[in-house]
Amino acid sequence: TYIVTEQCIACKYMDCVEVCPVDCFYEGENMLVIHPDECIDCGVCEPECPVEAIRPALTADDDEWVEFNGKYARIWPNITEIGEVPANAKEMQGVPDKLNLFSE
Ligand code: SF4
Ligand code: F3S
Repeated sequence: TYIVTEQCIACKYMDCVEVCPVDCFYEGENMLVIHPDECIDCGVCEPECPVEAIRPALTADDDEWVEFNGKYARIWPNITEIGEVPANAKEMQGVPDKLNLFSE
């Protein structure tokens, strides 16, 4: 599966949702996640993200992010079209320790 990771938090550009052939993105307050059981590993979303928040889950370290994506994909609503990008998305690019800013 592909995973959305920390850098998405508070940026939430949503370019990723427009290209997913199986519509497996789910939307939280300030981040999106990918449903690990629905993603078909096509990889087209990865280069769409301006902050490189998306990557394939390859290492054991990524397991945490797979779990995180799965947990929220099961409770958040599906998203298939770009909505309103957060006003300060640009300022939030590359900011460290974004998990502190995560809101469910
Ligand atoms: Fe969707 Fe493909 Fe990205 Fe998986 S890898 S989330 S199927 S666009
Ligand atoms: Fe997040 Fe990048 Fe998509 S910032 S919403 S993963 S385009």
